[in-house]
Amino acid sequence: MKKVIYLDNAATTKVRPEVVEAMLPFYTEYYGNPSAVYEFSTPCKEALAKARETVANSLGAKDNEIYFTNGGSESDNWALIATAEAYASKGKHIITTKIEHHAILHTCEYLEKRGYEITYLPVDEYGTVSIDELKKAIRPDTILISVMFANNEIGTIQPIKEIGEIAHENGIIFHTDAVQAYCHEPINVDEYHIDMLSASGHKFHGPKGVGFLYIRKGLKLRSFISAPGLRQKHLSTAAPRRENAVPELRMCRESWVSEKQSRSRWQSLRIIRRKRQNSVIT
Ligand SMILES: Cc1ncc(COP(=O)(O)O)c(C=O)c1O
Repeated sequence: MKKVIYLDNAATTKVRPEVVEAMLPFYTEYYGNPSAVYEFSTPCKEALAKARETVANSLGAKDNEIYFTNGGSESDNWALIATAEAYASKGKHIITTKIEHHAILHTCEYLEKRGYEITYLPVDEYGTVSIDELKKAIRPDTILISVMFANNEIGTIQPIKEIGEIAHENGIIFHTDAVQAYCHEPINVDEYHIDMLSASGHKFHGPKGVGFLYIRKGLKLRSFISAPGLRQKHLSTAAPRRENAVPELRMCRESWVSEKQSRSRWQSLRIIRRKRQNSVIT
């Protein structure tokens, strides 16, 4: 068989065999609706709770702050549109960067057509956002700052902690698209002052079509997808979300496996990145 050298792992990854193995029983045996009251749904309910707990722990978040989605694009769309709608009475100005993924940029265009003003921050030759530019862009009507954690083309990691601090000092909600960073970089939402965070399973050896949005407790965002009245029980004020999709279980196993493996990879990834940056400079 022809040997393939795959070099596009930032675009999508191969699902790990242990992930497939963990998923299979939920297609064949435990396929019940986790929201149902009958006993048949108990394993699904438990697995879903475990998935939520695993993801929450990986970010220093609470279980009821994790909302499973169909991937990074949905999470990004939801974060921006729902925040814009919910906080429109406070202001209609949003700050982002010129180098965001199209899931953010296209959503910004959508919002512009509906009367929102977007500031697109430039980046330097390394793809990094200037903190000074960010400070200058903030206005009394700024409701949201959305800056990606790691770039999908050149891998630049933004000064997320500083950006988060500035956002919170100014009473602005901070969202980060961490689709390229989750499981590669250690992230703690409190330490980094993150209010919303998007991630996607297929970027770290999970299946396509599974992701999540972390939403800090207290933010009052509407549900992005309307579906028959299923919501996280412990969330009465925040967004209700379709919770009957067993694929969400996949995230549990995968994020666990990937988190363990990536911990030892963080150091080596940093070294590779530094070397690559040095070679660009010289
Ligand atoms: C930075 C970033 N955000 C969002 C997405 C969209 O994620 P998904 O493919 O899960 O919709 C991607 C995918 O390439 C990405 O790299």
